[in-house]
Amino acid sequence: MITINTYELILKRRTIRKFKQIKIEPSILTKLINAARHAPSASNLQPVKYIIVDDDEKVKEMFKYVRWAGYIAPEGNPKEGEEPVVYIIVLADTRIRKSGYELDIGAAIQNILLTAEEEGIGTCWIGSVDRDAVRKLFNIEDYLVINSVIALGYKGEEPIVEEMVDSIKYYKDEKGVLHVPKRKLEDIIVKK
Ligand SMILES: Cc1cc2nc3c(=O)[nH]c(=O)nc-3n(C[C@H](O)[C@H](O)[C@H](O)COP(=O)(O)O)c2cc1C
Repeated sequence: MITINTYELILKRRTIRKFKQIKIEPSILTKLINAARHAPSASNLQPVKYIIVDDDEKVKEMFKYVRWAGYIAPEGNPKEGEEPVVYIIVLADTRIRKSGYELDIGAAIQNILLTAEEEGIGTCWIGSVDRDAVRKLFNIEDYLVINSVIALGYKGEEPIVEEMVDSIKYYKDEKGVLHVPKRKLEDIIVKK
């Protein structure tokens, strides 16, 4: 466990796409979902549900159904021996809320990413998912919408965040280190 404050933790978190092949304790995975459970939720409806994928065979299968780092594909793909060791499938229960659950999901996922970061675990929030294949693999009921997948594992890389110069596109330098440009503060505060 790293002892830094929340602000530092937020700044430190980067999307990770290279993972060490070390298991994550089930108690940590439960902790991540508990962090998600405490996220804000519109009308406190709490429509967000989860599937934890930590079975070796299923983890292997899931790798086929997610896409990595579009701007630098296939450079950003985890190589053999760098794959995620766990996935969390994030679902919306349409029996609880038919539509408009995306903001709840965003808040819940960010709680997961930051709690994982505090545990030294790297994450990649993945929207580019073969949802039909994932639905089939886990026999997911129709009333559950597959929104996102989170890939997890102990970090095998240390991406660098930097101020954007002329492009928001992340890139790898000659050493293979990922650089992530963020828009400057003065470019995002539109009025003072
Ligand atoms: C809604 C959403 C969907 C994303 N989908 C993918 C994805 O399909 N594959 C991927 O490799 N990264 C994906 N990402 C991660 C982004 O590429 C990443 O957050 C961005 O490059 C900024 O890097 P950072 O998280 O280190 O700040 C997604 C992020 C978000 C918020």
